Amino acid sequence: MRMRTTRLMEMKQAGERIACITAYDYPTACLVDQAGFPLLLVGDSLGNVVLGHDSTIPVTMDDMVRHTAAVARGVQQAFVVADMPFMAYHESAAQALRNAGRLIQEGGAQAVKLEGGERIAATLRAIVEAGVPVMGHIGLTPQSVHSLGGYRVQGRTLEDAVRLVRDAEALEQAGAFAVVLETVPAELAARITQRLSIPTIGIGAGPHCNGEIQVLHEVLGLVQGRIYKHAKAYADLNATIAEALARYRSEVVSRHFPGADQSFELDAKVAQQLDDVLDGASASDQ
Ligand code: KIV
Repeated sequence: MRMRTTRLMEMKQAGERIACITAYDYPTACLVDQAGFPLLLVGDSLGNVVLGHDSTIPVTMDDMVRHTAAVARGVQQAFVVADMPFMAYHESAAQALRNAGRLIQEGGAQAVKLEGGERIAATLRAIVEAGVPVMGHIGLTPQSVHSLGGYRVQGRTLEDAVRLVRDAEALEQAGAFAVVLETVPAELAARITQRLSIPTIGIGAGPHCNGEIQVLHEVLGLVQGRIYKHAKAYADLNATIAEALARYRSEVVSRHFPGADQSFELDAKVAQQLDDVLDGASASDQ
């Protein structure tokens, strides 16, 4: 049965941890769903880990709709949340509703996620009132990387910490069903988690949130270059894939692949007839 927001709320109340992860395509969505994750995010980290950009800013609505639809085709149980990309919800409530609608209707997501606190609360409320569940995202909000001055820990000063608490409360009041806390001190995340009745989902926010989310490619060891301090690789798919590719390439070059097992046969009689036809054609060409 499909996960629901009410069940996520029950998990918070019961003290059950909510393990979440991103996915961006059909095969990995199938694997994530089979692994039993209750919530799967089609993150705009798509831009970094799949599309090769150096930030999430170039990601478009069309990118998000296409990848969300691929993910949704692979998922039966998980609650699929799709990110609203940069500038897809800042112009007006009408623009935000139209784009949230696309992710639900064309993408097949069950919910959307917006970055920002109090300043986007009215937009978030408008989407919720249209019947679309919304997840909030505060702390390090990568779409605002230029105004934040880089990818750095948020909420370290008293002023910033208070602002993040107020942001989280504003999102809950506006109707968010959960809120992502990204790259904030663990002690601050603990206090926000305690004050909210909706689940907090951390990434780089310490162990006290109600759940955790990580980027699939970092968990699988499939990123180019270093992974973030908050991440942990549970596999080394870079090495596994590199080894498989090297073996395949080598077997093609050395004529070990394809072999008989991977080939299709022509009936001997048809082969003989084909040779006769081809020989006859060559003779008449001369
Ligand atoms: O885009 C993303 O992957 C995210 C997670 C880091 C929460 O927003």
